[in-house]
Formats: sequence, C-alpha cells, structure tokens
Amino acid sequence: MSELTDPWHFPRPDLAQAYLQGFDLGLTSARGLFARRRMGKSEFLKHDLLPAALRAGYLAAYVNLWDDTDHPGQALATAIAQATQPKGLGKFWEDLNTPIRKLKGGGKLPLGIEGSLELDLADKEKAAVPAIQAALQAADKARTRLLLVIDEAQVLAAPQHKAVAHSLRAGLDIRKPGIKVLFAGSSEAALREMFSRAAAPFYNWAPLEPFPLLGREFVEAMVKQLAAVARQPLKLDDALAAFAALKETPEFFRWYIERYLMYQQQGSEQALKYTQARVHDDSSYARVWKELSRADRAVLLLAARGVQDLYGAQALKQLQELLDSADVTASAPRTSIRRLTGARLQLMARVDHGAYRFEDPEFQTWVAARRTID
Ligand SMILES: Nc1ncnc2c1ncn2[C@@H]1O[C@H](COP(=O)(O)OP(=O)(O)O)[C@@H](O)[C@H]1O
Ligand SMILES: [Mg+2]
Repeated sequence: MSELTDPWHFPRPDLAQAYLQGFDLGLTSARGLFARRRMGKSEFLKHDLLPAALRAGYLAAYVNLWDDTDHPGQALATAIAQATQPKGLGKFWEDLNTPIRKLKGGGKLPLGIEGSLELDLADKEKAAVPAIQAALQAADKARTRLLLVIDEAQVLAAPQHKAVAHSLRAGLDIRKPGIKVLFAGSSEAALREMFSRAAAPFYNWAPLEPFPLLGREFVEAMVKQLAAVARQPLKLDDALAAFAALKETPEFFRWYIERYLMYQQQGSEQALKYTQARVHDDSSYARVWKELSRADRAVLLLAARGVQDLYGAQALKQLQELLDSADVTASAPRTSIRRLTGARLQLMARVDHGAYRFEDPEFQTWVAARRTID
C-alpha cells in the first residue's frame, strides 16, 4: 500500500481510528468534513483512512468528484463497484450498458435526436442512476461493511446532478447499517448547502465538522525525514517559522521543504522566500484565470497543452468538448486569441502565422496542469 512507499507521508493513525470508531459505535452512519484546499484532506482519506478501514475489515471505496466534475454518477458507481468486485469491473459496465445500447440501436428514438448533445447527456444520466443502484446491490452481496469516501462531495449539489444525488441518497438510506459514508469538501458553504437546505437530497443526512489540521507534529516529522536525506539538517525552529509564514498550509510547506532540500546551501530563509513567491504566483494566476471567460479559458488550455493549430477542425472539436457545447463556432478561437494577445491581458504573443506562445512560461505550466476550464 502506498502509505508504506512514501517516506514523506506523515501518517495520522489516531485520526483514522477516531473516524472508524465513530462509525463502529453506530452513533452515525455518515459524516461530513471540510477544510480549505491543500490542507491534507485527500492525503489523509486515501493514505490513512482507507488503509485503516481495510485493515479493520471494511471494504473501502474512494472517489474524488473533482476528477471528473461532469460525471459524478459514473465515478461513484465505478468506485463502489471496484471496492466490491475488483475483478469484474469491465463486466459490470458491460451488463449495464447493454440495455442502453439496445435502446439507442433500435433507432426508434423520437424526433431523430440521435447523436445530438441532448441525447448524450440524457444517456449519461440514464447510465449513472442504474449504475449506482447496481453497484450498491453488488455491495449488498459482498456481505461486508463498506466505507464510502466521497471527496469534494459538493459537486453533487449542482442542479444538473440532482438525479444522481437523489438516487445515491435513496440507495444509502436503506443501507445505513452496512454502508458508512464520509463526505469531504473544500468549500464549507457548499457542503452546508448540501446538508442543510430542506429541498436538497442530502438534507440533514450528515453532521458537518471541521477537518483537524496538521500542526507541529507534522513539521517535526518533515524535519526528521529531511535529516535522513540532507547534508545540512534544517533547524526545527526555522521550519516552524516557515510553516507559520505559509499560513500552516501543508502543501506550501512541502514546497518549502523540497526547495530547501534542492538548495541546502542557500538555507531556510531563501527557501521560504522562494516558496512565498511561488505561492503568490499561484494565487495571482488563479485570479487571472477566474477573470477570463469560459471560451477564453478553453482556448488558453489548448494552447498550454501545446495544440499548434488553434484554428483547425481538431481544435474546434476539443473546444466543443471542453465547453460541453456544440454551439462553439469556428470564429470563437480567433475572438479569444485576439483578447488573450490584446493589450489588456497580454497573456499570449504571436510568434508566427497562427502560432502563439505564452508570455509567461510559468503560467503556461500552471494552465496546462488544469484538468477542466472551471
Ligand atoms: N499527512 C501528510 N503528510 C505529508 N504531506 C502532506 C500530508 N497531508 C498533506 N500533505 C501535503 O499537502 C498537499 C495537499 O494535500 P491534499 O490532501 O491534497 O489537500 P486537500 O485534499 O485538503 O486539498 C499534499 O499533496 C502533500 O504535499
Ligand atoms: Mg483534495
């Protein structure tokens, strides 16, 4: 298991036990936890809680709904099915898809809407709901308690995922003794919406609490690990000061440790300076990104990924996919490029006929790392 192979992972066995014991006592079958991004939720869920649950005899399923915000239903079904019948995943989807394919292949769909966008979306929705039901039934057959961890669960609160959320809720409602659910999220407000709005599918379903944050012990463990590999050990006081300066954010602290390790002769202060600049860049990139229109982001994302012919048919198809809309016209990339190269934004520059480069290569790296245009 990965917890054994990453020497930089700071294990949190007590916290994992506390969550499991809460479920074991039967006081609650679902819980919600929140903390800002980069504070260590996913790392804990995947590398501490899941292995601990497996060791305690649970089946364990983990899904991060940010990995594919458009298809939470399919992601959920896959995660549950994988946990309960790891060998039969291909067959699971095949069995499920047969009736849908039959429906489609029959050619008797009204108004000739085959291949249109509506059909695709309806199709996906249709597949997700029975898929979740089938996966939960598979979990019943396994006759073992299941821990289902839903990371960035607030995605389910979006109106377009209502059917999926309702079907999940209904399926979980009747299985409270056998399936324990942990919801996690980076937005407290969005999670609260999910559990406190009377009309929401998960109304009153799980108590919401803050995720316990990493502190001094985490810093101590990182300093200790560093001492095992660095020529020049890092002073604990310097590390603690850096952790505080980085707003006690584990991810930023790991950037600092990494930098220190690479340039030990420059010392802690320089490593911190560098990290703070990197954090600052990161947040200013996020601000720029947020101000762009969806179409501009999509074009920028293709450019960052190295698509050369931004005006070509291939790029147009990719844009339509990114924007989830067939309405993107052939002139859209031109309009976006004009804005992106314009005096106000100056994000890209023209190097040749139809070829562009980013003004700031760091920004290109930042954009290229994005999975969606959200
Ligand atoms: N327990 C931990 N041990 C070591 N590093 C951690 C730990 N928790 C978080 N980190 C660091 O912080 C980063 C962000 O953590 P992550 O779990 O992805 O945050 P979140 O899910 O809250 O956004 C990780 O990629 C890792 O570098
Ligand atoms: Mg996360």
